[in-house]
Amino acid sequence: MSSPLLSVLAPLVRGICINALNAPCVAAADTGSIPKGALVVDLSPAFDQKPENETGNGFDAVTAAKIINEAYAAREFENAPSGADAAQAQLVKKVPSCIALSRGIENLGLFWIDRDIDAVSKRKAGRDDSFIEETLSGNESLFKSGLSALCRNDVVKNRVALVSGGAQGFGEQIVLGLASSGALVFIADLNIKGAEELAKKINAELGRTAAIAAPLDVTKEDSASALFDTIAKTTGGLDLCISNAGVLQAGSVMEQELASFKFTTEVNYVGFFIMAKFASRLMSLQHLTSPAWKTDIIQINSKSGLEGSNKNGAYAGAKFGGIGLAESFALELIAHNIKVNAVCPGNFLDGPLWSDPEKGLFVQYLAAGKVPGARSVADVRAFYEGKVPMRRGCTGADVMRTIYYIVEQDYETGQAVPVTGGQNMLH
Ligand SMILES: NC(=O)c1ccc[n+]([C@@H]2O[C@H](COP(=O)([O-])OP(=O)(O)OC[C@H]3O[C@@H](n4cnc5c(N)ncnc54)[C@H](O)[C@@H]3O)[C@@H](O)[C@H]2O)c1
Repeated sequence: MSSPLLSVLAPLVRGICINALNAPCVAAADTGSIPKGALVVDLSPAFDQKPENETGNGFDAVTAAKIINEAYAAREFENAPSGADAAQAQLVKKVPSCIALSRGIENLGLFWIDRDIDAVSKRKAGRDDSFIEETLSGNESLFKSGLSALCRNDVVKNRVALVSGGAQGFGEQIVLGLASSGALVFIADLNIKGAEELAKKINAELGRTAAIAAPLDVTKEDSASALFDTIAKTTGGLDLCISNAGVLQAGSVMEQELASFKFTTEVNYVGFFIMAKFASRLMSLQHLTSPAWKTDIIQINSKSGLEGSNKNGAYAGAKFGGIGLAESFALELIAHNIKVNAVCPGNFLDGPLWSDPEKGLFVQYLAAGKVPGARSVADVRAFYEGKVPMRRGCTGADVMRTIYYIVEQDYETGQAVPVTGGQNMLH
């Protein structure tokens, strides 16, 4: 079984199931014999093609998607009830829980499907190929189109999400928010130990697999490529990519070392490009078999992406650039139903970047005399709180409310949403 090919096949399988269920799910790659109830699809015609999006071996994902769609529709027809049962049965949709892909007699891959990763693991272990049954809402009334505020509660439930830099700070808050709202979250971080500890704590507290740790350096394409391969094989695809990893090295334009300027640019600006590149590749494959399903790439930007920051040009410049990337990627990627937006938080004064007692910005700014007249960390904090009309720093919950809004909002892309307690206002 060719490993790179599996990463292309997995999102096609996940997409077809999302399309059938109109809800997120997990499609986990497996090996071994094909169970009796599996939907077996021969992808031979998808090989030996030479279209523009070939992925090696002359394999064409667009042709493969078409074949999977047709095989799936035929299976649905085969299982369709007739006569008096039909109207009633239409309310219950049966989705195969195992799909096997082949090239003639060569087994290309086997995928187990269910709504979440624990249910998939159970199926895999018991080789349980019974249908997934989805009861469709019969409510075709006046209120059908998501007007009710209740839809916000489930907005990320069972979605597969990735948070770069998820081991601490805003990233950790976002991971906690998504996991507690029912998503499966990959915590991808340079600090793999921190990511693993956080995943362990979350899974123990929630009593389910809600978080998976994975190593990532957002400045390295190899590292990102390996991460997205792992995601494809573990869950079949991705619904939400939060590009959060960022660093801040402040400095005067007259004094900052070039290496420091470049480092800040690499992580904050280039890192977002790399995340969006690999996320959109995976999401666009999934889109081939789930054309109506929208996915999201969200950059955690900053208020410094909306206005200049004194003696902090490298950071502000990279964040301004991030908004340019988000707007440009949004224009291109909506063809694949991928929305791209940025969240621009104010200062997370309770987070480690500011509050770390040894190297946090409060102690650094106090030592550097950056706040005139400040004699203590509390004075520095009061100075920064005083800049905010709402008189407090930004929190994880403030950022989460914006993320839920962006995911739920079907009709917006390419936006930078300020979350600054009124410190930044639109011009
Ligand atoms: N803290 C704030 O006040 C504030 C305000 C506005 C925006 N932001 C933005 O929020 C995001 C998170 O900031 P934070 O303050 O929580 O940061 P933080 O320093 O507390 O955490 C950053 C995380 O990213 C990881 N990381 C760093 N470089 C990485 C790399 N190359 N690859 C993968 N992971 C890497 C770190 O290991 C760490 O876990 C950043 O994009 C930042 O610009 C922060």
